Amino acid sequence: MSHAAEAARRRTFAIISHPDAGKTTLTENLLLAGGAIRAAGEVAARGEARRTRSDWMKIERDRGISVSASVMTFEFQDLVFNLLDTPGHEDFSEDTYRTLTAADCAVMVLDAAKGIEPQTLKLFEVCRLRDIPIVTFINKMDREALEPIDLLDEVQDRLQLDTAPLYWPAASGQRFAGMMDLTKKEFIQFERRPGEPPKIGDAPRIAADDATLKANLDGHVYTELTEGLEMAAGLLPEFDQESFLAGHMTPVVYGSALRHFGVAELLRTLQLYAPPPRDQKAERKGEPVTIHAADNTVSGFVFKIQANMDPNHRDRVAFLRLCSGEFRRGMRLKTAGGKQLGIHNPLMFLAQDRGIAETAYAGDVIGVPNHGQLRVGDSLSENGDIQFAGIPNFAPELLRRARVKDPMKAKHLRKALESLGEEGVTQLFKPTIGSDMIVGAVGQLQFEVMIERVAAEYNLEVVFEPAPYNVARWLSCDDPKILEDFLERNKSASGTDLDDAPVYLAKNAWDVGYAQEKNPEIRFTATKERAI
Ligand code: G4P
Repeated sequence: MSHAAEAARRRTFAIISHPDAGKTTLTENLLLAGGAIRAAGEVAARGEARRTRSDWMKIERDRGISVSASVMTFEFQDLVFNLLDTPGHEDFSEDTYRTLTAADCAVMVLDAAKGIEPQTLKLFEVCRLRDIPIVTFINKMDREALEPIDLLDEVQDRLQLDTAPLYWPAASGQRFAGMMDLTKKEFIQFERRPGEPPKIGDAPRIAADDATLKANLDGHVYTELTEGLEMAAGLLPEFDQESFLAGHMTPVVYGSALRHFGVAELLRTLQLYAPPPRDQKAERKGEPVTIHAADNTVSGFVFKIQANMDPNHRDRVAFLRLCSGEFRRGMRLKTAGGKQLGIHNPLMFLAQDRGIAETAYAGDVIGVPNHGQLRVGDSLSENGDIQFAGIPNFAPELLRRARVKDPMKAKHLRKALESLGEEGVTQLFKPTIGSDMIVGAVGQLQFEVMIERVAAEYNLEVVFEPAPYNVARWLSCDDPKILEDFLERNKSASGTDLDDAPVYLAKNAWDVGYAQEKNPEIRFTATKERAI
């Protein structure tokens, strides 16, 4: 198969949801439905695949890291699905945002009793920014749910996303009976099976016009279903593939991940509609170019770095999303900055296929072990002439001054914080005046994780104290002189990030607004896309 054909059968997606909506449960059940695992937690390994799998498991063990859960690859009916995992805790949402830059499609999981929750909204906005098409999975139908039409209205109103249900549920909670497949005009029955584990595979179906359907359902549930179907047909648009791919419409599937209901239907929806690897915007020698999955040379970008938790090694794994070409093990790739890397031990994340450890295609993600040469946002290509756009850094929402208990070790601490900053989860700022180390993170939990990691990996005791600033904004200006003047005048409120990019450090958002008003030529941005 040509590399273009291989790329065309890749479907790379991520799941977005508010904590507790059921992302983990759905992930596991998608892997079950796709045949990637046989029972909860058990990875199906056969023949050659077993060797491949144990290879990288050994690498994981040797390096003391766990990367396998970050990407899960499985084949389902001629398609290769790459499911990108996104960290669940909201403090790590920046990582999640970046992972979305590597996805071509997202599954938005909603709790049927709660609808859109704050984290769903935030993540949705990132998808919208990138026009990532979204499939909606309304989960936990086996519990009391909001009215289906109200849930769809909420999606429509709050996300400005047209909803096209592909299925329509019959009641919820104790009375949940299943859902109508609106395309095939068949009712899919929810089997309760109390006390038994859910059955993996297809649920029984009854044709919509089969008289036994009515007999099979409780009278009220049947009436609710028929009324709901009429309402859906009258009020909601039909699914339109183009509108979906443009990010304007979401197909909706209902289900219960926990009871493995609707999961096969979700997988089929992805199979039918999820797009193959998208074209990617990039620059080549300063000129904008579009990289196509079918292009001949290999290219990709790093969207995540996972550091080694083993204090004896400083190795990291960079997650490289391939965008074009056929990657072969042992290849040498170059960053746009001229760094060259031979990739001899790429980590692959699949359970099933054979031989794939040797090659990878657009849409795939490989793990590149390195000693810190690679950074989030780096682009790699055969000629080192491609720089992808759009892997953002987000302004941290919390700033703290870092101090080491033993003042003799300040230099060591700076090294440690720089190194952690390079992973991209936290930021390190250097104020223009003084020698403070200002660390930014999107959540409190990250500071706690840092304290532990700095202790374990660098043997240093770090303390995070309140900083004189609370807000950081990246600065840019078309006229370098204006920016220089501004920085000169604002020495006490400015600094640089890890890449020496200028930042404005302010007490609060009001200060930022004021400075912005006074300096209209300067852009104060909450995200920074890696410089070309
Ligand atoms: P998350 O990754 O999005 O945070 O959610 P997760 O899958 O961990 O699910 C959160 C809770 O919701 C879990 O219950 C899980 O069992 C439950 N859940 C997920 N899908 C469904 C569903 O379709 N129906 C019902 N009724 N529950 C569902 P928990 O009590 O927090 O954990 P556990 O003790 O069950 O593991």
